[in-house]
Amino acid sequence: MNASAPTTAETLRSTLGGLLDGLPPKQAAAAVERLIASYRGQTPTDVPVLRDRSDVAAYAAYRMPATFEAVRAALDALAEAAPGWAPGSHVDVGGGTGAATWAVDATWDGPRQTTVLDWAEPALTLGRELAAASGSDALRGAHWRRTVIGTGLALPDADLVTVSYVLGELTAQARTAVVAEAARAGRAVVLIEPGTPEGYLRIREARDQLIAAGLRVAAPCPHDGTCPIEVGQDWCHFSARVSRSSLHRQVKGGSLAYEDEKFSYVAATRFPVEPAPSRITRRPQIRKGLVLLDLCGPQGGDPSAGLTRATVTKRHGDLYKAARDADWGQDWPPAG
Ligand SMILES: C[S@@+](CC[C@H](N)C(=O)[O-])C[C@H]1O[C@@H](n2cnc3c(N)ncnc32)[C@H](O)[C@@H]1O
Repeated sequence: MNASAPTTAETLRSTLGGLLDGLPPKQAAAAVERLIASYRGQTPTDVPVLRDRSDVAAYAAYRMPATFEAVRAALDALAEAAPGWAPGSHVDVGGGTGAATWAVDATWDGPRQTTVLDWAEPALTLGRELAAASGSDALRGAHWRRTVIGTGLALPDADLVTVSYVLGELTAQARTAVVAEAARAGRAVVLIEPGTPEGYLRIREARDQLIAAGLRVAAPCPHDGTCPIEVGQDWCHFSARVSRSSLHRQVKGGSLAYEDEKFSYVAATRFPVEPAPSRITRRPQIRKGLVLLDLCGPQGGDPSAGLTRATVTKRHGDLYKAARDADWGQDWPPAG
């Protein structure tokens, strides 16, 4: 890539930045507040929450940068577990304004056939417009189709199927149906949910369903066995840093230049992968001369199995240096 060319993330940010241009700031903030209120209300909903242009513009400007970064982090983990693999086709289910398609574009080079499915026509229309402003052939050539996720769902076969921030909006039946259909249609399936206890439980249930359908977990888990987390005690989630737009600062107050989006995810494949030996499940704690790492390790009886805490000290030399640079969500120990 040309070093001075904007990255996919930069293009997305600037395209979204212009979205609410012309709308008085108070009106833009009001549209976001309305949207947040409807998401706080009853879900699953019988009708789309994103009903019109101002709903979807508010969603895209306010939430899309965060869902984009969460999906990108999940896809990075899949790309690390499957080096050399790149999807030649992608179906994004409940794709809304297309955050996951931008994240796929930021992760793998094309060419790629992209299809976005959603029941909210205004979201698809805006998604198509945003994609048209990108410099990517895969994004510009994407197909945007109105589709209801329910028991009759039939997905086109694809190398990659993503379902991002959608499971929580579905009835239990529709949730089971979409995961089953993603597992049938996708060579790789990536599911992302908010990093809350409820979001984690939906991912945990879906993970079991994907494994039962014959897929292998590529990330974040180092194995296909039962998740070692005791439900109710903790939840598996990660964090992605998101630059805050002026709209964010207006709605949320404060002047922080960024915020951290918490998310839970699972990536599973029908082809062989190399999952991480262990994964860092919390922000590392750096103390004087040592780093504490909370890890989820392999199954079985060895000391690194299940949930453990590693203490890495100066005596560990290069490993100590790596631990000081390590981040929540990364593989451990680092490859190479
Ligand atoms: C929170 S948004 C997530 C959008 C996008 N995937 C992202 O990560 O930014 C949820 C999306 O799911 C769609 N959705 C919810 N229930 C649906 C259903 N039953 N059928 C089709 N789409 C649905 C909504 O219209 C909305 O676009």
